[in-house]
Amino acid sequence: MVERIYLFKRFERFWHWSQAALVITLLVTGFEVHGSYSLLGFGQAASIHTTAAWLLVGLWIFAIFWHFTTGEWRQYIPSFDQLGAVIRHYSYGIFLGRPHPYRVVPERKHNPLQRLAYLGLKLAINPLIWTSGIAYLFYAQWRDLAPAWLGLQEVAIAHTLGAFMMLVFLIAHVYLTTTGHTPLAHIKAMITGYEETH
Ligand code: HEM
Repeated sequence: MVERIYLFKRFERFWHWSQAALVITLLVTGFEVHGSYSLLGFGQAASIHTTAAWLLVGLWIFAIFWHFTTGEWRQYIPSFDQLGAVIRHYSYGIFLGRPHPYRVVPERKHNPLQRLAYLGLKLAINPLIWTSGIAYLFYAQWRDLAPAWLGLQEVAIAHTLGAFMMLVFLIAHVYLTTTGHTPLAHIKAMITGYEETH
């Protein structure tokens, strides 16, 4: 039996896809500024990077407000119930064609592994990128006040580490979103809001 459930509200879908577009823009331009390759030219890459970063900061402020006013932040409270079953599913059950052990309902739309991954993104990766990026941008204003161990190099390392963590998240995330009952099923749900459960 196929059941359609409404999981992703309009603002959430807007936030998700604009965040994805901005993060991908930041990764592409950021690694160019870092010197990994040459695509747009350093000056243009740096200016697009700064504009996209400010847009993302603005989007995050709205998204944080939305999560708290709607109570949706509760979706990210860690739960270890069925975590082992979900990990076993992605490690081998999925390759044996076994059904997913977790049943999605709107109040608990993320399985325990998604809860941990998204919470880690929001509480570790995002703040690391956010604070190190702002420290980078305003270095000239605080350099004279900084302790001896903290300089531009440390800020740059923290920011690049955040960028690599985000890239690893993105690769794992996109792979996992293609593991629904069809490769595009979860992606369609993030576009229309409706997930089809079997
Ligand atoms: C780096 C950029 C991205 C970030 C930071 C990100 C982050 C997130 C977060 C936090 C959620 C949970 C949303 C919620 O609570 O409702 C989510 C869900 C989802 N994302 Fe992304 N995403 C990114 C890129 C992408 C891309 C490129 C795709 C597809 C090609 C994608 C497909 C999906 C899908 C299908 C879901 C819903 C399934 C689920 O709940 O796990 N995302 N993403």
